[in-house]
Amino acid sequence: MSHLDTIQLHAGQHPDRETHSRAVPIYMTTSYCYDDAAMAAGVFDGSMPGYTYSRIENPTVHTLEERITAIEEGAATVAFSSGMAAVTAALYSLCSCGDHIVAISTLYGGTHTLMSARLPQLSNITTTFVAPDDLAAMENAIRPETRMLYLETICNPNINIPDFDGIRALADKYGLPVVLDNTFGMPPIFRAKGYADIVIHSLSKYAGGHGTSIGGCVVDMGTFDFHNPRFQVMTTPDPQNGNVIYADQPAPVATRLRNQLIREFGACMSPFNAFLTLQGLESLSLRVQRHCDNALKVAKFLESHPNVAYVHYPMLEKDPYHDRAKKYLKAGAGAVMSFGVKGGLEAGRKFIDNLHLFSLLANVADAKSLVIHPASTTHGQMTPEELRKAGVPPELIRLSIGLEDPDDLIADLKAALEA
Ligand SMILES: Cc1ncc(COP(=O)(O)O)c(C=O)c1O
Repeated sequence: MSHLDTIQLHAGQHPDRETHSRAVPIYMTTSYCYDDAAMAAGVFDGSMPGYTYSRIENPTVHTLEERITAIEEGAATVAFSSGMAAVTAALYSLCSCGDHIVAISTLYGGTHTLMSARLPQLSNITTTFVAPDDLAAMENAIRPETRMLYLETICNPNINIPDFDGIRALADKYGLPVVLDNTFGMPPIFRAKGYADIVIHSLSKYAGGHGTSIGGCVVDMGTFDFHNPRFQVMTTPDPQNGNVIYADQPAPVATRLRNQLIREFGACMSPFNAFLTLQGLESLSLRVQRHCDNALKVAKFLESHPNVAYVHYPMLEKDPYHDRAKKYLKAGAGAVMSFGVKGGLEAGRKFIDNLHLFSLLANVADAKSLVIHPASTTHGQMTPEELRKAGVPPELIRLSIGLEDPDDLIADLKAALEA
């Protein structure tokens, strides 16, 4: 099984031996029965296969984890209750009190606030944010306490694309892992293998695909060697978990996440959400391609409209990230674009209020088309200076183009622009 179209339907499912159910069963159970005390002890100490408790592992969630591992060509995946839970766990899997992160400044607003406000407050973990294309600033920001370079594939809402080769080379020079939030690059858009060591997804977007469920995951690509004095948490035995040395494991981060962060922080995914996400994944490649094709048609329409001031969509030839998009993005640049209406903030608000097919809400990559004003919603916790650095001007409007007929979407946009 080597093609995404097949993997998204089959990977990770081993049909149930008792019922032979074709669909992945929803195992809504907290816990699992053992035949005898010896089996219970064996499952708990890991010497026998089996499940202990659904906060830590669950068969439905496990199928989803294996499917995502196969989709990302990684070593192991741990699912979480949300994308933010996955981001938080990934950061704590490598950072302890006093550690440091180097991140690009154009991150999802929730991740930015976690790094700029909450991690310093709770754990004295600090982040230096650097302009996404300033590799020299990224290099200057690296310190002995730095534990990762953190980026996103297609940044939102400015739709910029990092220099993956340059950042990989920098990470290798300093012995640091690249942690990538690949939510907007969900395969078949971007192949993270080779560029990132740890891949995060909000599964609430392309993976579920229908705006029905919140979820997240961390994929350990199994590519980073943690036998390095920077990563004592990975090279020191874990006394609560059989003195395992995580750096010696084939998937060190995933093993630590399972043993410590899912077990102790407890932000596990519900089996029902795992089932909904699996339903979404079955049509992933078809939906993503349609999102990309529709979005390019809409971007070209907006670019040509006299009432539009600018459009950010890297598949447009004039876009500053066009060359990178061509180099790194396979299926297209995804569903999401942003633009400014001539007339600024007030004209933009009027435009949003005159749309009919687009839903005004805070999500992306739903089957249905969506619109939002980031500065007053998704990025509303940022200061004006942080907004400027994140590339979010007050008038910016973000669209997520769905799977509708593109002519209907363009007709709706045209009517609203001309209202
Ligand atoms: C790039 C990115 N990462 C993470 C998240 C957080 O995901 P969730 O909403 O599933 O917690 C989002 C949410 O919009 C996102 O856009």
